[in-house]
This record gives sequence, C-alpha cells and structure tokens, in this order.
Amino acid sequence: MTRTLIVANWKMHLNASQASLLLHRLHERIKIYRDIEVVLAPSMLVLQPLSLQIDRRKFRLAAQNAYHKDEGAYTGEVSFTMLQDLVHYVIIGHSERRIYFHEDLDTIRDKVAACVRNGITPILCVGETHEEHHAGETRQVLHDQVVTALSDLTSDEIEDVVIAYEPVWAISTFGGELAKPDDVKKQMTFIRKQVEDLYGKAAAQKIRVLYGGSVDNSIARGYLEIEGCDGVLVGGASLNYHKFSGIVHEAYRLRNEVEDSE
Ligand code: 13P
Repeated sequence: MTRTLIVANWKMHLNASQASLLLHRLHERIKIYRDIEVVLAPSMLVLQPLSLQIDRRKFRLAAQNAYHKDEGAYTGEVSFTMLQDLVHYVIIGHSERRIYFHEDLDTIRDKVAACVRNGITPILCVGETHEEHHAGETRQVLHDQVVTALSDLTSDEIEDVVIAYEPVWAISTFGGELAKPDDVKKQMTFIRKQVEDLYGKAAAQKIRVLYGGSVDNSIARGYLEIEGCDGVLVGGASLNYHKFSGIVHEAYRLRNEVEDSE
C-alpha cells in the first residue's frame, strides 16, 4: 500500500537559518511513521544545508522548480541533473510558475520529461483558475494540463508520477473559499481517467494524486478521506510547525483508524 504523502511547499519563504529552525521544530513533533511520507520543499538555496540536517527516516526533500536542460549556457538556472543527489521530488507546473513565470504546457512537458530522465519523481501541479472555474472549463483545462505534461513519458514512467490537483481559486484563500471534498473527488477521478485512457488502468491506479488549496490541520482530514486521495500539498500552513505537524498527525490517525477497522 502506498504511503500517504504530505508535502510542504515553503514557496519563496524562509532563509537558511529560518528553514533550519522550522525543520528542528518539525523534527521534535513528527515521529517516524511507516505509512506517512513527509516531504519538504524549501527554496533552492536552502536545499543543500537542509539536506545535511535532515533525518532521512522522517523527511524527504523536493525542489520547487528546475530547468529542463541538463547542462549548458543558461545563466541563472538549476537543472534536474544538479538536483539528482539532493531531492526525491521536484514540483513542476505550480500555478504560480504558470501565472507569474508564463510556463506553458510545452515547457511543463519538457520539465516533467527532464525530471524523470534524471531519476527524480515529478509532482505535477494542475488546476483551473477562477475564471476557468466559473466558465465551466475545469475539465478541459485539467485534460490539457495532464495529457500534455505526460506526453513524453512511457506508461512505466508514468506510474511513478505524482499529480497534485490545486484549483487556483482555492490556493491561499486565508479563510475564504474552499474546494468541497466532494468536488475535489470528482476532479481527482477525472484526472485518473485521463491517465487511464492514455496509459491504461495499471498506470492510472499507481499514480499518486494529491490535493492542494488552503489545507491546514483543521480541514486536512476532509481531503485525506477522499477515496483515491494519496495526500496533500500544503503551502501557507506548512510554514507553521503546529499546523503542519497537525496535518501529519491527522494523516497518521486516519491511516491507523482505517487499518484497525480492516
Ligand atoms: P496554500 O496551502 O497556501 O493554499 O498553498 C497551496 C499550494 O500552492 C501548495 O503548492
């Protein structure tokens, strides 16, 4: 059985000493859980020092982005090749990269391919904007984002991919609009169906699908309980050690209640 995946996306927050302190606090609160995988995605600059501090039985690292070429004259970029020994995962196609850095479908496809080529697991983010949501275009958007991003992979390679459904309108709403778990479930099923249509049932069952969008410790359970939801991708609440460790504990409780009742 796959482990529940809880990912902290620290976005462009925390310098090296702040990140080190947060890791220390999380280490105090989070035990080694056999059925939970906790992944931290700090800024690029902080990956290296954190990798020396981290207890690898409890935490894994992810980068928030990388460049699709392996090496060359690309001033300012960091490649997947350079991240190989440092991270298990790279977040690709986050809505903030799509919106602020104009990453289009083809760029994201190239990054997913580069990630897999370098032996790193992609966490591919997909999701519709507020306008697309209200225009009834969610399925078309999800279809285009999923199908294009995976198009350079084989079905064997796809099995390892993680897809995070993050509706843009539900990200960092700070008490505002939240996606309803029932609606999230429908979109997650739709995402798996896109994978199944192209790469078969086995691939669709094996890929992991996460939810992200204003998840904190008080509402995490509602999403983690969704059938077919393999975990959550957490932004704002991951900067707070109480809230983030609370999400990990919710995931642990849920797994163990379910297993006890089986
Ligand atoms: P919030 O949890 O702040 O909504 O961020 C979600 C996100 O973008 C994680 O990648």
